[in-house]
Amino acid sequence: MSVAVITGASKGLGRALAGALAARGWDLVLDARGAGALREVAEELEKYGARVAALPGDVTDAGHRADLVAAAARFGGVDLVVSNASALGAEPLVRLDALPLEGLRRALEVNVVAALGLVQEALPLLRASGIGTVIAVSSDAAAEAYETWGGYGASKAALDHLVAVLGEEEPGLRVWAVDPGDMATELCAAAVPDDEEPRPDPADVVPGFLRLLDERPVSGRYTAPALVEGR
Ligand SMILES: NC(=O)c1ccc[n+]([C@@H]2O[C@H](COP(=O)([O-])OP(=O)(O)OC[C@H]3O[C@@H](n4cnc5c(N)ncnc54)[C@H](OP(=O)(O)O)[C@@H]3O)[C@@H](O)[C@H]2O)c1
Repeated sequence: MSVAVITGASKGLGRALAGALAARGWDLVLDARGAGALREVAEELEKYGARVAALPGDVTDAGHRADLVAAAARFGGVDLVVSNASALGAEPLVRLDALPLEGLRRALEVNVVAALGLVQEALPLLRASGIGTVIAVSSDAAAEAYETWGGYGASKAALDHLVAVLGEEEPGLRVWAVDPGDMATELCAAAVPDDEEPRPDPADVVPGFLRLLDERPVSGRYTAPALVEGR
């Protein structure tokens, strides 16, 4: 049985991906700060027969990250780490001239520092897995210059670069940065509350992530909508 650690799994993409992996027989270690929603997800996924450890906590807490990996070790190891939990830096997003530096620090801490910290904690088990895989959930804001998305985009660009270097340093693993594309989630609503453009459900892009896991292409950066479309 394969074991995945997924951060930010109580809502949105993390929840949808956790559901898809549970349906495929994966055991899961899940986190989010809010305990109630996380517990509900765990109960739902246990119906698939999956073993689920739902640990409430903040990914920026090193002790919490160690607890996540320890829970996975009790399930037998770590085959997949998905760094999905994310901070925007300002809600709603603001232009750089008004971005609180504390917000930028928080985005970097959650999106970059914590993601690397979790991988560092899990690396011995990932290397031992045989199918060790790291997925860092990125954004098109990492690659494109959209007004107001500068702080968040800079953090995702930093995450992309860590992933690129990690892929070189760990040739025995698969290390992918994945841009999921726009999705109708709470994060998106918090970022741009006045934008009522219709967006896909996170479940619609999960097949792109599953395709990566099935085909195991080389480490690098991928976009989920293109993978879903077969490109
Ligand atoms: N939605 C989009 O259009 C879009 C586009 C491009 C990229 N993305 C990326 O996709 C990923 C998933 O986003 P989403 O849209 O699915 O967001 P979401 O629906 O708001 O879900 C975010 C999840 O992360 C958890 N979380 C947030 N901060 C956390 C922290 N510090 N520690 C632990 N858990 C935390 C949240 O639960 P709690 O609040 O209870 O902690 C929740 O479970 C993110 O990396 C985001 O940057 C999203």
